[in-house]
This record gives sequence, structure tokens and C-alpha cells, in this order.
Amino acid sequence: MVQQTSSMLDVLNEAGFEMMSDCQRGECGVCAVDVVAVEGEIDHRDVFFSDQQKRDNRKICPCVSRAVGTVTIDTLYRPEAN
Ligand code: FES
Repeated sequence: MVQQTSSMLDVLNEAGFEMMSDCQRGECGVCAVDVVAVEGEIDHRDVFFSDQQKRDNRKICPCVSRAVGTVTIDTLYRPEAN
């Protein structure tokens, strides 16, 4: 659950995922992660992805974009790979 006052990126980092990020303004795309499933909607607030990419809902910039409902993402975090 991401509160309105924090970003998805903050919550992932606080949970220990060590997400890559740079601009934190939705411009660079460094933070982009794969979307696995959407039950609801993604409110894409970045300017990195094209309109078509935003409609496809296959990636999200968690530094600025929001989920309405439940969005499942793949952080590429693989504990067994460490
Ligand atoms: S950190 Fe640059 S788009 Fe998210």
C-alpha cells in the first residue's frame, strides 16, 4: 500500500529493494519497472514514456506514477541470485 504522501519508489526502497533512480521527476526512466498485472489503473505521471507506452501499461516509473487499485510489478529483485 502506497500512501498519497509517498511515492511507490520510496516505499520500495524502504522495503529494502534498493531501486535504481536518478531524476525522481519522471524524466529519465532509470527507475522504470515492469508491470506484471493491473487490477485498476495506472496514473502515468512521467514524461519519459510515450503515450502509446503509457496505454500499453507494461512499465511504470515508480518515482512519480501512481496506481489506482492494485498494480503488480517486477522489481527484478531476485534474492536467490545474491
Ligand atoms: S528516477 Fe527518473 S524517471 Fe524515475
